[in-house]
Parts: sequence; structure tokens; C-alpha cells
Amino acid sequence: MKILFIGDVFGSPGRDMVQEYLPRLKDKYKPHAIIINGENAASGKGITEKIYKQFMGLGAQVITMGNHTWDKKDIFEFIDDAKNLIRPANFPEGTPGKGLTFININGIEIAVMNLQGRTFLPAIDDPFTKADELIADAKKRTNLIFLDFHAEATSEKQAMGWYVDGRVSAVVGTHTHTQTADNRILPGGTAYITDVGMTGPYDGILGVEREAVLKRFLTSLPVRFEPDTNGRNQLNGVLVSINEESGKATKIERIMINEDHPFFS
Ligand SMILES: [Fe+2]
Ligand SMILES: [Fe+2]
Repeated sequence: MKILFIGDVFGSPGRDMVQEYLPRLKDKYKPHAIIINGENAASGKGITEKIYKQFMGLGAQVITMGNHTWDKKDIFEFIDDAKNLIRPANFPEGTPGKGLTFININGIEIAVMNLQGRTFLPAIDDPFTKADELIADAKKRTNLIFLDFHAEATSEKQAMGWYVDGRVSAVVGTHTHTQTADNRILPGGTAYITDVGMTGPYDGILGVEREAVLKRFLTSLPVRFEPDTNGRNQLNGVLVSINEESGKATKIERIMINEDHPFFS
């Protein structure tokens, strides 16, 4: 079972990259399931129903979110109907939406879950005890469990990887928008990467137009952050291979497409 995960899709540059390269990635890697982090898909902040449907139409099975989940008001209108859109499960009790969903690929169930760290991010419920709860729920149905851990601190992400090692098939980090080179299979059989990276502008700063970010750093004045639409774009992802019987991962490869790392089919 191969699962393709695409890191934080950022604004129209990110959506354009998904549109252009997802068919080519499907041809090359033949993934059985596709998961996209869409927390920045609408102009860098949040997601709309139209974009959710666009991603599903392109072949994604699950859309995961993060700290930008609520940035577009549209989300409150459609999140309860969006069966395969998940937001961090450790948001407080009563928050709209859900953090765990199941997809069925040729009779095989995969649990997909989304959690958010709380180091250098808003204080929410403990992602570690929430992970225990979600894993217990998921295990009633399947051994194939995929976790998008949306977090800022490398230490918190590594801690989560080790905490769930052997209990889930994969933990992929999102949120920092910069792909890390530490993809590995942990000893218990969990595929791990600290951050998958971002799909969007290649020449911005974390996707944002760089003049605005530089102005903020140089002057500390308030500036409006918009996606960088002037330059070249990139796509970041991972491909995880999982043994269908045991749920253990056998391989995690990084995918990086940009002008310095061109795509070869
Ligand atoms: Fe993000
Ligand atoms: Fe984020």
C-alpha cells in the first residue's frame, strides 16, 4: 500500500502545482491513496469548499488541516459535510469537524488522523494523550494508521514519532513549510519525517511574498502577508509504503519538485 502525502498547499501557486503535478505523480508512483494538507490552500490561510472539492476531484482521498483551519469563514458552512476533511483532533471539545477519518481502498481501510502541537502554537489539548485515544479508536478497524502531526517544534514532532512508534504506520510533520531530510523508518515500523515541506512559491519566505516578510523583520511594522505569486513554484511531499497485513511501514521517500530539483517521470 503506497500513500502519497503532499505538504501544506499554499495559495494559488500551490494549487497550480497540485493541478499540474498530481497526475504526473500518480503516473510515476501509482499511489493507492493521496492525502493533502490544505490548511494554507486559500490565499495562504485556510480552505474553501471549492478548493476542497477541487482537491478531491484531482484524486485526493483526505485533506488535513492545522492552525489555519478556521481562517476562511466558509469552513464553518461545509466542514460538517466534508466527510474527508479533518482538522487537528486535539482542538477543544465542541469544535466543529473531526480529527480522524477512515478511507477504504479496494477493501482495505486506512485511518487518517490530524493532530497539532502546542509548542510555539496556541495552547490546545494534549496531542499525545489524544493520539492514544485516536489510535485506540482506529485499531478497532484497521492496522493502517496515518498521522499528520502539524507542529512547529522539531522536538515535539520527534517526540510524537517515538511516542507512537510501532502503533501507527506513519507520522508526517507539517506546518514549518520546509522539508527536512530525516525521513526514516523508526525501529517499531513507523515511517517518520519531521516536516514534509510546502507546496507553493519557491522564491517566497515560507510561501509569503518576501518583501513583506523582510519589511516585518527590518522594521517590526505590521505588514500584510500574501502568497508570493511572482516567482517559481515547488511541490513537496512524501511517498510512504506500508505492509497491508501488519500496518508497518517499509519505506518513506521524499518528493521535492522545483527548478533546482526537476521532476523526471
Ligand atoms: Fe502551513
Ligand atoms: Fe500551520
